[in-house]
Amino acid sequence: MSPNRPAAVVILAAGEGTRMRSATPKILHAICGRTLVGHAVAAARALRPEHLVVVVGHARERVTEHLAGVDAGVVAAVQDRQLGTGHAVRAALGELARRGAVPEGTVVVTYGDVPLLTAGTLEALTAAHHEAGNAMTVLTAQVPDPTGYGRIVRGPDGQVDAIVEQKDATEALRAVREINSGVYAYDGRLLAEALGKVTADNAQGEEYLTDTLAILREAGHRVGAFTAADHREVAGVNDRVQLAEARRVLNTRLLERAMRDGATIVDPASTWVDVDVTFAPDSLVHPNTQLLGATSLAEGAEVGPGCTLTDTSVGAGARITHAVADHAEVGPGASVGPYAYLRPGTRLGKDAKAGTYVEMKNARIGEGTKVPHLSYVGDATIGDHTNIGAATVFVNYDGESKHHTTIGSHCRTGADNMFVAPRVVGDGVYTAAGSVITKDVPSGSLAVARGQQRNIEGWVARKRPGSAAAQAAERARDQQD
Ligand code: UD1
Ligand code: CA
Repeated sequence: MSPNRPAAVVILAAGEGTRMRSATPKILHAICGRTLVGHAVAAARALRPEHLVVVVGHARERVTEHLAGVDAGVVAAVQDRQLGTGHAVRAALGELARRGAVPEGTVVVTYGDVPLLTAGTLEALTAAHHEAGNAMTVLTAQVPDPTGYGRIVRGPDGQVDAIVEQKDATEALRAVREINSGVYAYDGRLLAEALGKVTADNAQGEEYLTDTLAILREAGHRVGAFTAADHREVAGVNDRVQLAEARRVLNTRLLERAMRDGATIVDPASTWVDVDVTFAPDSLVHPNTQLLGATSLAEGAEVGPGCTLTDTSVGAGARITHAVADHAEVGPGASVGPYAYLRPGTRLGKDAKAGTYVEMKNARIGEGTKVPHLSYVGDATIGDHTNIGAATVFVNYDGESKHHTTIGSHCRTGADNMFVAPRVVGDGVYTAAGSVITKDVPSGSLAVARGQQRNIEGWVARKRPGSAAAQAAERARDQQD
């Protein structure tokens, strides 16, 4: 096993997060499509630890259930009362011990509310810890405003002497801008030993994990620090202002990666993406666009402005503008919008079109088939190279259940048609404008299903004498004479 592969990662996540003012536990708030604790678990998992423990307390049933969905390998350790970070780590080690596991090797401690921390920084921390042969290595950062954080006290040799909490710090110490991120790498055995000696004798009456530093030093062990290259990585989220700030930073990071991979993002400030979105080279995103879930853009796909795509795949060279799509597949070269709504189960074939004011749901649209204007296509299969006339409705719902309509290839359906499902329309069919199709149509037929037009001559002059309409009709007749 690689020496940098930790025996355990412990994520502290028992706190309530009152400053969110939310019915949802803080760590279950999401940024970029993943909860705060989900981000922490993803970074921890990338280190491939033997054990991944999350300390839960506040709303622990909800949090535990969420964790099981995020990562089946996570061990939840319950901390009934939040008696301090040292107490929380003791709860984690206690839970592992109950399972017969004593972490031999490196134990990394991190937080559930630090979503920007990357696996890369955690790896660099464990590598530095291992190379120095430390008992404890603190991840520190130089921050513009250290208020609220524990301050790093360094000796003349540059060694870390102590971590002093804000509430326990003197005026002079409060000016120190190097802070404790709360993330550490420990020798597992020495951590357990040191935790046995931590007391609650401080301003907050809590068991401080930070006290392990002095305890280990006094016992003659090496303690070191590793400074994060980017202080924003260690920023915790405590309220919704910080939540928005973290989202912005992560979004920028995701978009910069996409751009380096060859995507054009016209306006990063108004483009919002989730962590699992993928971009092929030469994909292009116009402003005011949200790409959510597992949305993917293939080569040359062009999306926006004004799109929200969720779990949608956009084929090579496809074009989507001013549209909302959810669980849809847009084939290569297809065109969607402006003003289209593709609901779950929509699959547009190669070069197909869902045009303006078109809604689709559970609809398979064949290659080159076009639904250009003002239509609803629900529960339908349409073949290749068919054109659906403007203002067509697939009448799929009889008030109780949904029914399916199949239309063949190379059809030309007239404007303002209703296809009353369940219906099968063959290949090469034409339908007349304004038809309500209530019978199946055999291949090659013209279907006409509408009342015959009747003109009752002279009706206006007889029934509306002297009206503007009657006068206009009279003038028209005079001009003809
Ligand atoms: C802690 C550090 C401080 C550091 C800061 C970084 C200590 C004593 N201080 O302070 O040096 O600069 O983090 O953010 O460790 N938690 C539990 N159970 C508890 C207490 C806390 O799970 O009993 C969790 C919280 O949910 C939170 C994290 O641990 O995610 C930090 O707890 P918090 O009380 O916010 O610590 P700070 O006072 O900010
Ligand atoms: Ca905190």
